[in-house]
Amino acid sequence: MTGRFKDKVAVVMGGASGIGLAIGRRLHAEGAKVVAADVNQDGLREAETELGAGFVGVHADVTREADVERVVATAVDLFGAADTAFNVAGASRPGYIVDLSEAEWDFTVDLCLKGVFLGMKHQARQMMRQKTGGTIVNIASLNAHVPMHAGSAYVSAKAGVEALSKNGALEFAEYGIRVNAILPGLVQTPLTRRHFDNADALAAFVARIPLGRPAQPEEIAAPALFLASDDASYVSGASLLVDGAWAVSGYPDMRPFRGPVKWNG
Ligand SMILES: NC(=O)c1ccc[n+]([C@@H]2O[C@H](COP(=O)([O-])OP(=O)(O)OC[C@H]3O[C@@H](n4cnc5c(N)ncnc54)[C@H](O)[C@@H]3O)[C@@H](O)[C@H]2O)c1
Repeated sequence: MTGRFKDKVAVVMGGASGIGLAIGRRLHAEGAKVVAADVNQDGLREAETELGAGFVGVHADVTREADVERVVATAVDLFGAADTAFNVAGASRPGYIVDLSEAEWDFTVDLCLKGVFLGMKHQARQMMRQKTGGTIVNIASLNAHVPMHAGSAYVSAKAGVEALSKNGALEFAEYGIRVNAILPGLVQTPLTRRHFDNADALAAFVARIPLGRPAQPEEIAAPALFLASDDASYVSGASLLVDGAWAVSGYPDMRPFRGPVKWNG
């Protein structure tokens, strides 16, 4: 591992599991001090035990502004700064539009969209105080571009996260703060366990993925850290699809009609 994040302090919202945990692990391996926030206290404790010094878990709900503010304050109290932030927490209560209750809509949109707004607000305030720039990476979804049955709240929230990231990039640029979004396709995490436990559902997904497999969380963490690093010093307001080429696969497969490739090497 490189030391790209040596002497940096990172905040990971939703850092106890899946993609957030993979981001925290990689940041820690690359030299960052990490404050990971989550409602899953057991997951945070396990990660603290695994990673040891330089990784601190904070119990916080991203839908509550006071909690989010406290996470950033904890990074400053413990490690002196908040240089880079990742807004990852998310989940959904799916339902068809005609069935979906107001409470279900609010749960998903508050968690996936308001949580990112609150994170960006307090992360950027701290970065502005520091006057040394900063980076924010938000985890949206392929569903920001692609609707799914029973997914209206999630799809709307994730499209909102992509737009919000661009708005942040615009508003924070004069402070040297870059904001980017990652749009993952199917990733094997506890969130998607139901797809992996159902062979037919998994096959339906994989049939649409040109790379022929889902992603592992580390394959989302790596591009997230790239966007947060100095390697991406001129990248802001970008949306990076990390989907195994899913989004380019909608056209009918004409290979059976064209025949095989003629070139034989
Ligand atoms: N797994 C996928 O296929 C996939 C695809 C596209 C986007 N995403 C997005 O990636 C992000 C991470 O998902 P994941 O797949 O790693 O799932 P995950 O369930 O493993 O991780 C999500 C984390 O968010 C935490 N969380 C939930 N509500 C919270 C709250 N109110 N406050 C603080 N933390 C909270 C959970 O406890 C959990 O640790 C989500 O935003 C998800 O929508 C996932």
